[in-house]
Formats: sequence, C-alpha cells, structure tokens
Amino acid sequence: MPADLTRRKLIWGGLGAAAAAYAGALGYPVYRYLADPAEEAAELAKVTEMELPEEELPAAGSATILQFGARKAILIRHDDDTMVCFSAVCTHLGCTVAYQADQDRIYCACHGGVYDPRTGQNVSGPPPRPLEEFNVERLDGKVVIRRA
Ligand code: FES
Repeated sequence: MPADLTRRKLIWGGLGAAAAAYAGALGYPVYRYLADPAEEAAELAKVTEMELPEEELPAAGSATILQFGARKAILIRHDDDTMVCFSAVCTHLGCTVAYQADQDRIYCACHGGVYDPRTGQNVSGPPPRPLEEFNVERLDGKVVIRRA
C-alpha cells in the first residue's frame, strides 16, 4: 500500500505541475495583452545606458542599428576606429536613418535627408535639426553608450 500511495502522489504531482505550466502558458499572453503600453513605454524611456560587447561592434567603416530603450540608435564605427552614436530617428518625420559609408553620410530615404556621419549635423534635405548624439566609451572589452 505505501508504494501505491507514492505512485498516486507522483501522478497528482505531475498533473499539478502540468496544470501550472498550462496556466502559465495561457496567462502570460493575457498579462502582456492587458499590460499598459504607456507604462511600458515610460519604463523604456528611463533607459539611459547600454553596453555592447566588443565582438558585437560593427566592422570598421560600417554601422549598426541598436535598440536603445524606446528608440533606435545608429552606432557608426569609422575607418579610423573612432565611434559615434546618434539617435537613428530622423528629425524631419521620424523615419529610421542609415549609414552610407560609400558616400560618407547618414541618409534618410524617406525624403532625402542627409546628416554628417561624424557630428550628426543636418547637412541637406528637410531635417530641421541634428540627430541627438549619445556618448560612446570603450571600457574593458565593451562599449558603453549613454544618453547625455
Ligand atoms: S523623415 Fe527623414 S527626411 Fe523626412
């Protein structure tokens, strides 16, 4: 009889664990659906710093788009190994900009906006302001990007 009780407990324990996993699998999407998007956006807006391991850096002469809190950022690694990081959100109407190494510019394809790839200054086209610049610092095998 004690062996039978152990088997019964084991079966009920397994069923309980399966029920808990099933409830979690159903409950998490419901929780995410009901979560307040404004609250989530406010949390992301508080992000003022991010780290990137050296091995994830773009190659010299190229760039990468990063998710920096609620916004996208563009990290450019120039041929001389200097790095700059700007908001990747065009100051005209908010399209995502791209780095064009062959033309040495940051370009917004939406309306032809052009920015300087070293300063983020708006050079031509409709953008009214420079791109917001973030601080980039190399520290012990990683790069730290900070909102000023
Ligand atoms: S949105 Fe970038 S130039 Fe218009």
